[in-house]
Amino acid sequence: MNAPALLGARPILITGGAGFIGCNLADRLARDGAHVVLYDSLSRAGTERNAEWLMKRHPDRVALFEADIRDEAALKLAVSNATAVFHFAAQVAVTTSFRDPAEDFAVNVGGTFALLEAIRRREHAPPLVFASTNKVYGDLNDLALTEEKDCYLPRERAIRANGASEAQPLDFHTPYGCSKGAADQYALDYARSFDLPVAVMRMSCIYGPHQMGGEDQGWVAHFLIRALREEPITIFGDGKQVRDILYVDDAVDAYVAAWRNIERVKGRAFNLGGGPANAVSLRTLLAFIEGRLGRRLDIRYEEWRPGDQRYYVSNTQAAERALGLGKPTPWREGVAKLMDWLSADLGSLPQTSLALREAAA
Ligand SMILES: NC(=O)c1ccc[n+]([C@@H]2O[C@H](COP(=O)([O-])OP(=O)(O)OC[C@H]3O[C@@H](n4cnc5c(N)ncnc54)[C@H](O)[C@@H]3O)[C@@H](O)[C@H]2O)c1
Repeated sequence: MNAPALLGARPILITGGAGFIGCNLADRLARDGAHVVLYDSLSRAGTERNAEWLMKRHPDRVALFEADIRDEAALKLAVSNATAVFHFAAQVAVTTSFRDPAEDFAVNVGGTFALLEAIRRREHAPPLVFASTNKVYGDLNDLALTEEKDCYLPRERAIRANGASEAQPLDFHTPYGCSKGAADQYALDYARSFDLPVAVMRMSCIYGPHQMGGEDQGWVAHFLIRALREEPITIFGDGKQVRDILYVDDAVDAYVAAWRNIERVKGRAFNLGGGPANAVSLRTLLAFIEGRLGRRLDIRYEEWRPGDQRYYVSNTQAAERALGLGKPTPWREGVAKLMDWLSADLGSLPQTSLALREAAA
């Protein structure tokens, strides 16, 4: 661990910095000249690879602080002279939250609370941008849908055209939805109650390089890995469910903008996803992959999983306006880029489809 040396350089702290989104953000910040500390327990398979890649690429700018987000003493040290904090460390899978809701609660609620407290206790609190999820809006089962050949679509024109905005009522479903939702609300309330510079990003499906996608989380990368390895792909439900997917570079733009504009956006939560232009059903995505590979995939169907949304597309207009975001990468272009990245690196990706250490054990 070479983090203490870098801690003197007033670094940017990224919890979960060895994970998929954290690693892409760390690379961007280091390329822009910042010192970055990755605070990560490396509990997700493949994350040590991301950390090594970053430290090799930016030997003087990136350091790993290997610790658990629940370790208050380590967290306090890491926060002590951070200039900004991005919080990605989490138990990330809905399925795992059913298997072990206590662990999910401890990491997602307890870890976020410990981080907020460490920040609150600083004399000058650094800005914090927290990675929340669209799962805070529940399964959206009251949304009237039409069933098309390959997808579900909302009956209401405004939702079809724009997606769901931040005005959508909160409705936590599943232990993961509850723990991320509670953390989301704590983060917003610490902005309100203690005037901390905190903003929240409620993300849809983010995809891109360095994603160790598994059946439980990171489905775009998971489908591609399976397809490239000529392994069967299981769909939970009928595959007509629709998500707005966002290429990771665009997500990184939004995080950086939230940090740079924190005085203007503190106390706010933004929906962050590909928006209606990048809304795609699982079936449509799989057909696109088949087209690129020039062969049929082995696709199997199983029952819907609890909390699965039939249709979720973010209305990203608030984030675009407040953060000055450009047009997101068109999904076909982004998926093709991820496919190229995975093809080049397939042999060294974790073998397990779950890609979560405890599940693989
Ligand atoms: N990827 C998405 O599409 C998406 C969508 C919505 C929300 N999110 C949220 O964004 C964040 C990042 O997601 P990701 O896709 O990069 O996931 P990821 O699993 O790749 O990254 C999470 C990182 O946190 C680390 N971690 C896990 N438990 C930890 C603990 N107890 N202490 C310290 N580190 C720990 C893991 O080792 C991993 O490096 C998460 O908070 C997730 O809930 C992601």
